[in-house]
Amino acid sequence: MSSKVTILPTASLSGAGNSTNPRRRTGAPKALLGLLALCAVSFTCTFYRNGHPVDARTDLQRIPLDAQEILTRCASLRTKSGPPLNFVDRSVSDRFEEGTPATLIRNATIWTGQKNGTEIIYGDLLLDKGIVKAIGQVPRTPLRDVRILDAGGAWVTPGLIDFHSHVGVYSLPALHGEFFFCTFNLNSNKGPILPWLRTIDAFDTHDDSIELVMSGGVTSMQVLPGSANAIAGQAFMLKLRKTAERSPTSMVIEPPPEINGSHFSSSDPPRWRYLKQAVGENIDRYGNRMDTIWAYRQAYETASQIKASQDAYCARAEAGLWKTIDGNFPESSQYEALVDVLRGRVKVSQHVYETVDIDAIVRLSNEFKFHVDVIHHAAEAWLVPDVLRRMWGGPPAVALFSDYYRNKRESYRGSVHAPRVLADNNFTVILKTDHPALNGRYLLYEAQEAYHYGLPLELALASVTTAPATVAGLSHRLGSLYPGMDADVVLWDSHPLRLGSTPVAVWIDGIVQPLGEEIGVLVGKGKEAPEWREPPNVPDWKRERQEALRWDGLPPLTVDQISEAVAFTNVSTVLVRGAEGIEHLFRPSAHDHARGVVIVHAGKIICAGVDNTCSSLVPNGARLIDLEGGSIAPAFISFGSNLGLQEIAFEPSTGDGVLFDAFEKDVPRVLRDPGGIVQAADGLEFQTRNALIAYRAGVTVATSPPNAIFTQPSFAGLSTTFRTGALHALADGAVIQRISALHYVIRRPDALMLQGGAQTPSVSTHIAVLRRLLLAETNEQAGETAQWFAKAADGALPLVIDVGSADVMAALLKLKDEVEQKRGTVMRMVFSGAAEAHLLAREIGKARVGVILTPPRPLPKTWDDRRILPGPPISNDTSLVTLLANKVIVGVGTADAALAAHTRFDLAWATAESNGRVSPEEAIGLASVNLERLLGIDQAFQGGEMVAWARGGPLDMQSTVVGVLSSAQGRVDLL
Ligand SMILES: *[C@@H]1O[C@H](CO)[C@@H](O)[C@H](O)[C@H]1NC(C)=O
Ligand SMILES: *[C@@H]1O[C@H](CO)[C@@H](O)[C@H](O)[C@H]1NC(C)=O
Ligand SMILES: *[C@@H]1O[C@H](CO)[C@@H](O)[C@H](O)[C@H]1NC(C)=O
Repeated sequence: MSSKVTILPTASLSGAGNSTNPRRRTGAPKALLGLLALCAVSFTCTFYRNGHPVDARTDLQRIPLDAQEILTRCASLRTKSGPPLNFVDRSVSDRFEEGTPATLIRNATIWTGQKNGTEIIYGDLLLDKGIVKAIGQVPRTPLRDVRILDAGGAWVTPGLIDFHSHVGVYSLPALHGEFFFCTFNLNSNKGPILPWLRTIDAFDTHDDSIELVMSGGVTSMQVLPGSANAIAGQAFMLKLRKTAERSPTSMVIEPPPEINGSHFSSSDPPRWRYLKQAVGENIDRYGNRMDTIWAYRQAYETASQIKASQDAYCARAEAGLWKTIDGNFPESSQYEALVDVLRGRVKVSQHVYETVDIDAIVRLSNEFKFHVDVIHHAAEAWLVPDVLRRMWGGPPAVALFSDYYRNKRESYRGSVHAPRVLADNNFTVILKTDHPALNGRYLLYEAQEAYHYGLPLELALASVTTAPATVAGLSHRLGSLYPGMDADVVLWDSHPLRLGSTPVAVWIDGIVQPLGEEIGVLVGKGKEAPEWREPPNVPDWKRERQEALRWDGLPPLTVDQISEAVAFTNVSTVLVRGAEGIEHLFRPSAHDHARGVVIVHAGKIICAGVDNTCSSLVPNGARLIDLEGGSIAPAFISFGSNLGLQEIAFEPSTGDGVLFDAFEKDVPRVLRDPGGIVQAADGLEFQTRNALIAYRAGVTVATSPPNAIFTQPSFAGLSTTFRTGALHALADGAVIQRISALHYVIRRPDALMLQGGAQTPSVSTHIAVLRRLLLAETNEQAGETAQWFAKAADGALPLVIDVGSADVMAALLKLKDEVEQKRGTVMRMVFSGAAEAHLLAREIGKARVGVILTPPRPLPKTWDDRRILPGPPISNDTSLVTLLANKVIVGVGTADAALAAHTRFDLAWATAESNGRVSPEEAIGLASVNLERLLGIDQAFQGGEMVAWARGGPLDMQSTVVGVLSSAQGRVDLL
């Protein structure tokens, strides 16, 4: 309240005194005396109450000079959040940048997002002044200063929205300043309840992710703080476009006034605000689950009290009871965001995984009467729809990964079937990446996978467009296309739900975005066939969905083991391992669509041919399996994760445990080996869920180094190759190759390692050690470390070096040459990780060093990995294409066991983004024959492990695995 006060006589309002609280009443007279002494003038006036003039006669009242301001503010508390007034009438976007030409996209197939995602318009789209001006048949009258682009019938969608992103606050490449605990911008460590923090205060506009993510068609995102606090702070909706002003502030969509103080106006609705909350394991630095919920209750009690005192204050002000008011409008800059939550002005994003936590949050929302708008990750949401329906204010939306589960206990029951089950229960489904947890560039891939697993097409597209726009309260401008919407548009090279669909162009606020510096990048070559314009067919997962529900997310993953004959009919393709890679044993001829029969006995193909070649040979009593035009192809190998060594990645108690790092501290003396070399085969665990799920996705073999959880010690030990479907280590054929390769890691200490307090020695120290080991004369005293490295030096064992930086690779190529010169040997060196390998493709090829791209679609997470070759639409080439062109043997790997089952989709992407230069057969080889060659996996195994796919080939979205043919185990496993 102002200190300048005028005394006014006002009406005495009956009953109003009842609402005055006693504490205030006793405090009032003293204040009034002081005020009377200050103020001498009095006059009469008309005071408006509820719109009616109140005759001012009786009591002398003091009315503060800023009474109108107070009343305006009080009125504004009741205004609902929403778009600025008259928003629909706008003809120019508030985000329009002067000088932007209009764009006319002609002849496009436009998925508008309207009519529940069912509307498709074949026609034109006119963008001008930052907004969509027209859609459909835009007249051909000459428009002045307009860029015209013929889409040739290609798909256009609204720009994608990632509703869970850490772009800018987990800036890439992660530098130490970014990650050191105190300065790390994802989470503050100052306590569990921090609603006053704001991601916009930490947003790094130079994050390498910005352009990358945008190149995937993502135009807006919610930038959330992390999940290590119960209330980590306020989030912001940003566009990925770099603005002329270059500031974070200018990237914010409809910035709430609260960014810069507390403006208020009763007429203009407040803009939506966003808050991040988290519950469960991640808050453990502040106690356990019970502590977390108590922390919430304390915080919301404080906010409730502030809100109640504001409401009481306003009730008195609006009743004209100024004499009962002392002090200012009750405010707290720390708690104002939570008060706004209670007023329904904040879109609350709740990180929550398990039933126990979902239930707790639903109780919390009912206790304090606030709505949680969206629950994130929500691995068990699909199992408890009724709990979610009890959320105060209605069911929340659910923001999911398509299939990134089982890496922590909380997500163990997550399921690929969750999006469909939730949609069947009428929940709004959003797919998101949690960038950089998953690469935000591939947000659409999340929707593609959800579609593959049964989410209806229109909901899959909506899950990354209209759904997040609506939940963000921004559907008046984002997420769909019709006149008046923001001109955020993506032109795709193929149907957006096809694996590998890539933007040809991205517009944000009507401005075509520069996707990289390379001129004339080709997009969509090799995708000319009409099918690329159609949505792919997908399998029917009804049975699996019901099973998953019945078993609370953990359906048994058993198979039928068939030792007798099995005849696969209706087979359209059989692919086999040949001398030059994957070859066709047969495929249907172009002329007749006759399909073949494949007879398998004891897991071995004994006859394969079209028509009658094999039909007459089907043994009596053979199991007949109709592949419906499917195929039989070599099984996939997953390389590089902790598959088979750990059940749950973030749960050390379920795995082999931590390795000693000889570079950091002495390994236990009892090992009597300076490097502490261990064998992964000794730590194998069979029947882990990740392995069984991978098996059912055609990944029947894995090569894992010891304990490759997040960061490996430099002496990473000896990898092993095993069958993912085996029962235990002693089962027939369980271990294919006890020792596959010797692993060594050379990486500059990354942020995570530094956070753990590691003092990693230099790259040159690592190479010096390697040189000594590779050139040393071995003797019995030298320990196993020396012996294994001597084997590697002699070429008796592959040496796989996990390395990102091209400079380190260059040093390694020189070292290899030196060793080979001095020892007269030929080493079998392989680079894994290898994000920058493309920079040295020619040299790597000449040196006959293999490369295992892990992951195949890279993200510049660290300094060592920063110079990736991103592929279209940023660059013509991908790393894969460049390496293959230089005759490098390339494999693909995955660092994450939970993603091993996606190998087939990774390979489909590898072909799709190659501009027609990597065939499906070559791609299949990347995760089979090429890895076998690089790792020297037993020849006897070759031809042994095959997979039968129904309704398509391994890389097709409509196919599913029906069975695994294992000659080594003498049987067929039917799923
Ligand atoms: C969209 O779906 C909702 C809920 O099923 C329905 O009420 C509405 O009529 C639908 N709108 C259109 C345009 O189909
Ligand atoms: C639109 O593109 C399709 C596909 O390229 C083409 O067949 C058709 O003629 C085009 N229509 C117009 C009006 O340009
Ligand atoms: C979902 O909504 C549809 C259409 O409004 C309704 O028929 C159906 O019963 C709802 N399903 C559930 C599980 O509530």
